[in-house]
Amino acid sequence: MTTRSALTPALVATQLSKCYGALQACDQVSLTVLPGEIHALIGPNGAGKSTLINVLSGAVAADSGSLLINGRDVTLASMQQRVVAGLARSYQITNIFQTSSVMDNLLIAVQAQQGSQFSFLRSRDRDTALVQAAQALALECSIEVSLWNLPAGTLPHGEQRKLEFALAWAARPSVLLLDEPMAGMGPDETLRLTELIDSLRGRAAMLLVEHDMQAVFRLADRISVLVYGRIIATGTPEEIRLNDAVRQAYLGDEGAQETLRC
Ligand SMILES: Nc1ncnc2c1ncn2[C@@H]1O[C@H](COP(=O)(O)OP(=O)(O)O)[C@@H](O)[C@H]1O
Ligand SMILES: [Mg+2]
Repeated sequence: MTTRSALTPALVATQLSKCYGALQACDQVSLTVLPGEIHALIGPNGAGKSTLINVLSGAVAADSGSLLINGRDVTLASMQQRVVAGLARSYQITNIFQTSSVMDNLLIAVQAQQGSQFSFLRSRDRDTALVQAAQALALECSIEVSLWNLPAGTLPHGEQRKLEFALAWAARPSVLLLDEPMAGMGPDETLRLTELIDSLRGRAAMLLVEHDMQAVFRLADRISVLVYGRIIATGTPEEIRLNDAVRQAYLGDEGAQETLRC
């Protein structure tokens, strides 16, 4: 039996490995994310970051290693069982119903979460409590009221990413996996999403894969660096900035070098 306390890490990955043919995409990755911590996972392209996120979420089976979520062993659990254990992941727009309104998307997400509570009701939009929960979620995730009735697919890219984030947040996860949430965003949109994530700090542990180093260094409590499938360093942003092996790994990436120098 597992017991959970405030000291139980939100996520403990131990020696997780995944290979694709001869390629070792994740090589004995061990990683701990503490409750409420924003833990950034950075590394050059092809380092295995998305593979690790897929292994953690259960989308891809690990070859070996183990995973605990809130002290519960989910190594062999399905994606759905991992969600029940408290894990959620943001799915990059594909999760959004493009032709439904923003509010309908939120209603569906809240209803999916609280399904049993609301199932006796005839229609989603007649249920005041459900609507209130969806509206509260929208406000919590900084989705402006003026957007609520628009078809989700017509929103600017940055707003769609925020909506996608809100759909994952609806599950009230204790661990949220975010794979490059700022991808394809302009500087203003990146800043708004960074502020949103910052505003939710402490309410869930987050494992954040992100290329935008400014966002990473602003948000992360700790950073792990993945190179060729292996974690080469874990530490505070300052420790990572000063780490020679990390600087070496990012040689040739001028944007990253710039941030590591600052
Ligand atoms: N489904 C797959 N089949 C074969 N190779 C894959 C697959 N997914 C990822 N890879 C390979 O694994 C390595 C790590 O990829 P990925 O996890 O996407 O890296 P990152 O997200 O850090 O850029 C890359 O060399 C990539 O080509
Ligand atoms: Mg990736």
